[in-house]
Amino acid sequence: MQFPTDSGFTFVLFGGTGDLSMRKILPALYEAHRSGMLAESGKIVGVARQEENRAQYIDWVDTHVKPYAAKNGLDEAAWTSFLARIDYVKLDLSRAEDFATLREAIAPLPGIRVFYLATGPSLFVPICQALASVGLNSGARIVLEKPLGYDLKSSNAINDAVGEIFAEEQIYRIDHYLGKEPVQNLLALRFGNALFEPLWRREWVESIQITIAEELGVEARGNFYDNTGALRDMVQNHLLQLLSIVAMEPPHSMDSDSVRDEKLRVLRALKPLDADDINKVAVRGQYHAGVSRGQAVPAYATEPGVKPDSRTETFVALKVEIENWRWAGVPFFLRTGKRLADRVAEIVVNFRPVPHSALGPSALRAGKNRLVIRLQPNETIRLYCLAKQPGEGMNLASVYLDLAFDRFFREGQMEAYQRLLLDVIHGRLALFVRRDEQEAAWKWVEPILNEWATTPRQPKPYAAGSWGPAASSAMLAQHGTCWLEEEN
Ligand code: BG6
Repeated sequence: MQFPTDSGFTFVLFGGTGDLSMRKILPALYEAHRSGMLAESGKIVGVARQEENRAQYIDWVDTHVKPYAAKNGLDEAAWTSFLARIDYVKLDLSRAEDFATLREAIAPLPGIRVFYLATGPSLFVPICQALASVGLNSGARIVLEKPLGYDLKSSNAINDAVGEIFAEEQIYRIDHYLGKEPVQNLLALRFGNALFEPLWRREWVESIQITIAEELGVEARGNFYDNTGALRDMVQNHLLQLLSIVAMEPPHSMDSDSVRDEKLRVLRALKPLDADDINKVAVRGQYHAGVSRGQAVPAYATEPGVKPDSRTETFVALKVEIENWRWAGVPFFLRTGKRLADRVAEIVVNFRPVPHSALGPSALRAGKNRLVIRLQPNETIRLYCLAKQPGEGMNLASVYLDLAFDRFFREGQMEAYQRLLLDVIHGRLALFVRRDEQEAAWKWVEPILNEWATTPRQPKPYAAGSWGPAASSAMLAQHGTCWLEEEN
């Protein structure tokens, strides 16, 4: 889709030489530029302390960002014109006068202003206050990266302070999972087809699984991760956001508040957990040494930056219930972890078996209807049905109807960050997390955080390269089901 190219913008990137800018934000802006989706007059202003001037910053971008931008081949002419869009302001956060310099530097630039804070959360409030002190908050949009706080209290403190400077409509809280193409497709599938809606409820759905599994360990982020853990890093945000999209009621329209109101209702309907429940419905694990893709890999506790006696979870599996008419009694199994057997993110909707099998026992053995929405890798949606095997007798087998996006759509998929950055520039808030959603998610996870912080129980060990602790499979077995990869 081409957007109007006449709406100018100034995109100011704090943390302009950071990891996120290098790997995600600048490559996404380059791709938007290359495909003609950015206004001609739009400018990008890197803000950092490290580089002295524009020439040095451009050098840094050319050296560090180019390899990520070139992932699918680089268009040299587009890269050169992309660099021409970039300005730089050297800024030390502790120096008020540097913000005045920033104001002067961007004063002549046209269009709306976006301030993207690709920095640690402890800098969000000081940066917003400093922007306000030079009047740069007025009419601007502010983008906040996760993690937004450490718990409900700290996230409220950030939101309160930022909320004094920017109105909620100016605040774009990023959850990059919401920008992924298949998540958009899930909305299209649910609300663009008459077929699924009647089945999308407790009468027909037996259980739902949402998995975000990673093969990688904590890489160079040991220190950050050890103070964070999988519950804060992945569940409070990405997994609960996916859950709310799967379970939400059809919104009145796709405008931002209609969608976010419905997601919020789901988050508020999550069955609260007390300490007794938590031991039954929440599994926390930590990886030990193991083998990943044929390579021996070390235990989490020996990774750089991690305390040797760390009790931080690198794996979480949860059984979640939604207390409303549509979903009462349907278990939602959520799972995420580092150093698992595969890199996969998927949503699995298991439908109930037929009420009576006229086709005999082979029909029951052959499986059930199931919808598998694969977010990554290889985005697909598969609807599993039973069909007769050719030949004698009535033997059924599970087959699937396949929506492989690359076969149907010639245009390439858009990366999550590209979509979200364009949404910020164009003022579309639907795919950003509203404050009340974030609060509801923190409220729900907080009893688990508290229980895990105080219990003498250790996280359950699992071998790196496996699918997590045995307790995760056992939890599903109690409900007569298993994770998708355990089928057959
Ligand atoms: C981030 C987490 O939000 O999401 C990381 O902080 C995680 O720990 C990443 O690796 C996963 O994102 P994706 O898009 O690679 O699945």
